[in-house]
Amino acid sequence: MKAIVIGATGTIGKGIVAELESKGYEVISGHRNSLVSIDIDNPESVHDFFESTGKVDAIICAAGSAAFAPVSELDEEKIQSSLNSKFAGQLRVAKYGMKNLKENGAIILTGGMFAYAPWPSTSIISAVNKGLEGFALGATLEMEDGKRIMVAHPPLLSETAEKMGMPTDPWPKSSEVAKSYSKALESGKSADVFYVDGYEPK
Ligand SMILES: NC(=O)c1ccc[n+]([C@@H]2O[C@H](COP(=O)([O-])OP(=O)(O)OC[C@H]3O[C@@H](n4cnc5c(N)ncnc54)[C@H](OP(=O)(O)O)[C@@H]3O)[C@@H](O)[C@H]2O)c1
Repeated sequence: MKAIVIGATGTIGKGIVAELESKGYEVISGHRNSLVSIDIDNPESVHDFFESTGKVDAIICAAGSAAFAPVSELDEEKIQSSLNSKFAGQLRVAKYGMKNLKENGAIILTGGMFAYAPWPSTSIISAVNKGLEGFALGATLEMEDGKRIMVAHPPLLSETAEKMGMPTDPWPKSSEVAKSYSKALESGKSADVFYVDGYEPK
């Protein structure tokens, strides 16, 4: 089995790569600095990346940024860059990646816990994460040959909490978060949202 992981060198991506490799997947890494690079903020780059990769069983996107800012400070630049990266960027991955999926192949996009448990200053992240769910719901109606698309909503990772100088408890490690992605791949479902065990919405 083959999988493309976009954001493969990131905090979440590294865990996903290790999880998939432990399950026997051959993983193709995609990010801005990979051998064949992909910048999800740039439509042409996403198009070209998928022209150069063959058919795979899974495409996972764990890349894209959105602004941390109170609504009063959401200027046009922050709004547009958040929408273009974490939202449109992942939609591009689905659009251009779809043709590279084998029969019954699956796409997983990454939102995050702010979809269901926002903090102050996360309104646009919340909106983007929820928007991904809507996209998966609609796109599912057009998927053929058993192809599927899902969304993962990880909580804050302990590695990220540590980098931010926050307590690492109660947050899960990347290796634990990665299991929600393999659970999604093995589920046979489409349009569904996947959470890390123990971090589901209350
Ligand atoms: N970490 C958390 O606690 C957490 C929790 C919930 C959700 N999330 C979401 O999960 C995603 C990944 O987060 P992360 O913390 O793992 O990020 P990260 O550690 O900063 O890693 C980002 C990864 O994506 C790549 N990347 C960055 N921008 C890209 C672009 N425009 N096009 C293609 N690849 C790009 C990076 O490599 P290059 O620099 O080489 O491109 C790297 O491989 C983000 O959308 C984030 O909002 C994170």
